[in-house]
Amino acid sequence: MTEKSVTFRVNGEDRAVRTGADIPLLYALREELDLKGARFGCGDAACGACTVIVDGVAVTSCDLPVSAVAGKSIETVESLDTDPPHPLIDAAIDQQAAQCGYCLPGILMAAKALLEQNKQPDRADIIAALDGNLCRCGTHTRILRAIEQAAGMMAEAGE
Ligand code: FES
Ligand code: FES
Repeated sequence: MTEKSVTFRVNGEDRAVRTGADIPLLYALREELDLKGARFGCGDAACGACTVIVDGVAVTSCDLPVSAVAGKSIETVESLDTDPPHPLIDAAIDQQAAQCGYCLPGILMAAKALLEQNKQPDRADIIAALDGNLCRCGTHTRILRAIEQAAGMMAEAGE
């Protein structure tokens, strides 16, 4: 099988993966680039655990061929690990939004994409943005509160 190189930006850095098959972006991130934040849940675009942001839009990465992101800009949950942390991280901790935490990387990226489009979402906006993200632990209320808190923190900081 002939290997091809696919290049794109991940969290602000140019990266390349060499692959013989057109593997899903999720596998390229986790296995080739060692970015383990995005999770494998269903593998069928049905749970949102693998959500990342591609050119500003939250998408599932388990069903997205890596060739489809050539030249694009990807953000993964690792991009929130800044100094100081992104408000979504602080708010998730404040609100104890995670139980097992498996869903949270995908949810935080869906929330980040929302907050970049809509700085003051109401609860209905947040629920709609998270429609594709499942949480088996049932921490939905705390997750919603965390996103509302993050929006407030960002507004206070003038972001
Ligand atoms: S693992 Fe991608 S949507 Fe479930
Ligand atoms: S906190 Fe466990 S799946 Fe959401």
